[in-house]
Amino acid sequence: MEPLTRRSVLAGFAAFGINSGLGSKLSPAMAQARGTPYGIAVELKPFRTDPQYRQALIDHADILVPMNMLKWASLRHTKDQFDFARADEIIAFARKHGKSVRGHNLLWYGYNPKWVDAISSRREAERVLVDHIEQVVDHYREVVPSWDVVNEVVAHNPLKGGNWRDGIWLKHLGPDHVAIAFRTAAKTDPSAQLVINDYDLANSGLRFDARRSAILGIVRKLQDQNIPVHGVGMQAHLYAERGFDRDGVAQFIQKLSKLGVNILITELDVIDWRLSKNTVRRDMGVANVVAEFLDVIYSTTEPQSITSWGITDRYSWISDVFKRKDGAPNRPLPLDRNYQKKPMFDVIENYRKAAQKS
Ligand code: G3I
Repeated sequence: MEPLTRRSVLAGFAAFGINSGLGSKLSPAMAQARGTPYGIAVELKPFRTDPQYRQALIDHADILVPMNMLKWASLRHTKDQFDFARADEIIAFARKHGKSVRGHNLLWYGYNPKWVDAISSRREAERVLVDHIEQVVDHYREVVPSWDVVNEVVAHNPLKGGNWRDGIWLKHLGPDHVAIAFRTAAKTDPSAQLVINDYDLANSGLRFDARRSAILGIVRKLQDQNIPVHGVGMQAHLYAERGFDRDGVAQFIQKLSKLGVNILITELDVIDWRLSKNTVRRDMGVANVVAEFLDVIYSTTEPQSITSWGITDRYSWISDVFKRKDGAPNRPLPLDRNYQKKPMFDVIENYRKAAQKS
């Protein structure tokens, strides 16, 4: 049996409304008709080939997020062209079925086309970056109300070598790349919600403290420059074996809230490589991790949305990157491989609905 902690078990019960104390901690003003909006990141391949996948998106999502098709490598095969067709396919489906859309992302150190590596000067980098953001945000002005403007700009470990993540944009533009990206997005669509998105923001330890302070520093700096930033996206790729920093996260959210910046959960899933092979116990373990995480968040605020990074265990990056030693298939998402709801699904649903009732 997996060593479930008392806290994680209690958090699991809390998710089912038992002695959660949840309602009293939520602001009634934040309650929404259908609870916290739920998003699903959509992979193109199953979207095109698996009818059950499309049906799950229709049945469960309020928001759809193209998982990869708005990234530079997908849109920018060459320097002179923009290939919007595949992202448009997902976004048209979202609109047809009454779903909102989030855009992921406008700047990242990763998943860039080869020609980007050949950029050789600050001037060229700025021109290419500004042009990209202008064209992409403008193309989706009427249909994408919320953007991950920058993705993973904080160093994996800011305690070693500073706050910034290495990459092409930092190399040529220095820390200004973040301000350039936000300023350009704001200018192109003044009504869009602009989000800074990053991972490893909820756990306990000095590296995580440093990551939270780096994000706060970036938000303050943008605001000092009168550049709008509306949200922090906590990716929430949750390692089942790590503990959350309840106080650290609460302070982080409160400080952001004082700056007028909201929290979004943007890429929720659970890295289950060290949990029991037994599927019943594993699914409970995964649900408990999610319950504990959502309890930490909802104890301080209702996030603006919760998006999971996929919907079914049939398709997940975790199966490629965090394979289990015992060879058992990973189970990181709300629905199993046969599209049946797992306890993780109910936990998310219960937190979302609890927010609605408060
Ligand atoms: O579509 C091709 C397929 O035709 C080909 O056969 C196959 C061979 O490798 O590759 C497929 O493309 C892959 C693509 O995902 C679609 O599945 C790429 O190789 C692969 O690199 C790409 O990975 C994505 C990764 O970001 C890089 O863009 C993952 O799906 C996606 O889940 C992951 O998402 C990131 C977020 O953007 C940021 N936060 C972390 C998160 C997980 O790594």
